[in-house]
Amino acid sequence: QREKKRKQGANLLELAANFYRERRVMPEGRAARRYLEQRGLSAEVIDTYGIGYAPDSWEALKRHLDERGVSEAVQIEYGLLIHREDSGRTYDRFRDRVMFPIRDGRGRTVAFGGRVLGDAKPKYLNSPETPVFHKGRELYGLYEARRAPKRPEQLVIVEGYMDVVALAQFGVRNAVATLGTATTEEHLKRLFRLVSRVVFCFDGDRAGRQAARRALETALPQMLDGREARFLFLPEGDDPDDLVRREGAQAFTDRVTCAMPLSEFLFEQAAEGRDLQAVEGRERFASDVLAAVNKMPDGMLQSMLLEELAERSGLRQTQLETLLARQQARSE
Ligand code: UTP
Ligand code: MN
Ligand code: MN
Ligand code: MN
Ligand code: MN
Repeated sequence: QREKKRKQGANLLELAANFYRERRVMPEGRAARRYLEQRGLSAEVIDTYGIGYAPDSWEALKRHLDERGVSEAVQIEYGLLIHREDSGRTYDRFRDRVMFPIRDGRGRTVAFGGRVLGDAKPKYLNSPETPVFHKGRELYGLYEARRAPKRPEQLVIVEGYMDVVALAQFGVRNAVATLGTATTEEHLKRLFRLVSRVVFCFDGDRAGRQAARRALETALPQMLDGREARFLFLPEGDDPDDLVRREGAQAFTDRVTCAMPLSEFLFEQAAEGRDLQAVEGRERFASDVLAAVNKMPDGMLQSMLLEELAERSGLRQTQLETLLARQQARSE
């Protein structure tokens, strides 16, 4: 029963993805085509990512799915149809938007992100959580990155759909995006199964820097020996899409190569706003770094961070180890 429902759901999402793709090339998709052109996207990349258009209609998709025998209940369950309890009305969730299908590891469409053509709000609308879609698990572009001709050695985590697609158009095929949420432990576990290095590259704005600090916290417990995380900070006001269009692919990959190692970002964060000339400043600094080290799995990287901390704080490493053990005992 459950398996049957899952299949029906999966089928319905493919039907919807095809529907959106068809509408993009039809006369009603003209504005969407113009929008994609304005944003500089090629036919090839539009095809690779299966980008489509949801027509400006309350029930175009619903009628399409009704005709193919998909029940209203299933359309609602998979987030394509909205049901209003108060009025009892139903209507298509995505209307007059450029549609990005979100695919799972096997390439099956599990959800959509839809962008307005102008500057109405919300700018992006995403599928809700459904039986096949969990935002904290999926990464936009991961399926396409794995299918790229050259197997990626590292993956770059960006914020937006457009960042992934623009980078791909310029030949940078190893970017994936979180779906309007923070990077989760599950995201990182998935990525580290595929590559040993991830590079966080959020927008050059306040929200992006905040996202980087949160990503650091999430990454710490995942930092087994042999894994590497880096942080790439973009110029103020830029996102990867802006940057790759302005500077090109080589400049972008050069920046990725020079991205800040997690250890450096950690020390930088702990030092921020502190006077390391003063004992008190160094104490706060050491205490922050120690708390972070405490979140890491035991290993070489952890030991080496302690050694580095000893140097930078003036504490002896044996002393730091005692403090760490005490902290660990307390957090158990
Ligand atoms: P941004 O606002 O940075 O958008 O949000 P962007 O990708 O650069 O968009 P363009 O270039 O104007 O098209 C980054 C990501 O946050 C999520 C989306 O996943 C988006 O790609 N987001 C943003 C939403 O889910 N809803 C929103 O209203 C805005
Ligand atoms: Mn579930
Ligand atoms: Mn932003
Ligand atoms: Mn952006
Ligand atoms: Mn953008």
